Amino acid sequence: ISLKPYNTFGIDKKARYFINASSENEIKKALIKAKELGLPVIILGGGSNILLTRDLDSFVLKIDIKGIKILEQSKENIIVEVGAGENWHEFVLHCLHNNWSGVENLSLIPGTVGASPMQNIGAYGIEIKDVFQGLKAINRETLEEEEFDWKACRFGYRESIFKNDLKNKYIITRVIFKLNKIPVFHTEYGAIKETLAEMKVKELSISAISNAVIKIRQSKLPDPKIIGNAGSFFKNPTVSDSLFENLRSTYPNIPGYPNEGGVKIPAAWLIEQTGWKGKKLGNIGVHKQHPLVLVNYGGGDGKDIQQLSEEIQQSVLQKFNVQLQPEVNFL
Ligand code: EPU
Repeated sequence: ISLKPYNTFGIDKKARYFINASSENEIKKALIKAKELGLPVIILGGGSNILLTRDLDSFVLKIDIKGIKILEQSKENIIVEVGAGENWHEFVLHCLHNNWSGVENLSLIPGTVGASPMQNIGAYGIEIKDVFQGLKAINRETLEEEEFDWKACRFGYRESIFKNDLKNKYIITRVIFKLNKIPVFHTEYGAIKETLAEMKVKELSISAISNAVIKIRQSKLPDPKIIGNAGSFFKNPTVSDSLFENLRSTYPNIPGYPNEGGVKIPAAWLIEQTGWKGKKLGNIGVHKQHPLVLVNYGGGDGKDIQQLSEEIQQSVLQKFNVQLQPEVNFL
């Protein structure tokens, strides 16, 4: 089966075996079947953070568990459990509709709810860890269902335990969020403030913030339905204070924000300086509005995108002595 409809890069690679699982039981059955067939299992959510570089001689398991269930609520808060296969943005819309605040800054992020804690998705001043309460997951070895609380997930910038110590060990089935019924607004991020002002918003609301975020994203991030991409291809690197000072003496305009004992530099700036922004190489390239996004204009090959990403890393390393780390997972 072709995986083209199942990855936002729109790469046409095949999977030996493909199953959609819409319940915990179906997941367990699929895991048993994969074992019988002797095939390695690859878990797929929305396919919005992967780059397929080859045909997969594997058992691809798409997690399709649906449902939004209220677990608890008070005057101030509400705790909801959401199926891993729910589309992230549709969940955000559901929250807006019910006037639950917390995820409005994360509007329009592609992918599924189940994938969101994996890499602690974040945008415009909020990360999922800020609204996360816990999750349920199936242990791939024992097939037991287990729960993880906030601390157990060890969230970091685009990181969690599921990308590190527990990589490929669990399948996330449900995610539990704690949201506010009395809205708490986060408008610190510069672009949000400016956009709200441009939109002449009179009274701040979670829908106004969501609309601002949607406007910003649509203005610089390509819609994967139109141009294949997986959002930011690299993470924003954090460098030591001394390296940053060195760089600033050569590049006085270099942007940087204090972060985890060093300085975080926007990878987009580094890439733009090396001249890659907007470069087109056949049917792939670097997006013209945002150099952190690599794109497939149609018919592109994952291997070529991987090679392009390595060339960009090389240019940035040579010019700035900074090593960019991919945010996207290669398969
Ligand atoms: N910049 C440039 N040239 C450009 C665009 C940006 O130099 O063409 C520089 C500017 O200095 C700008 C800075 O990059 O101020 C930051 O740009 P932007 O606000 O677009 O954010 P980002 O750091 O590139 C991160 C996340 C995004 C998230 C936005 C908003 C990562 C890897 N990416 O991007 O997440 O939407 O912030 O919070 O942290 C994703 O993970 O896929 C993703 C899109």
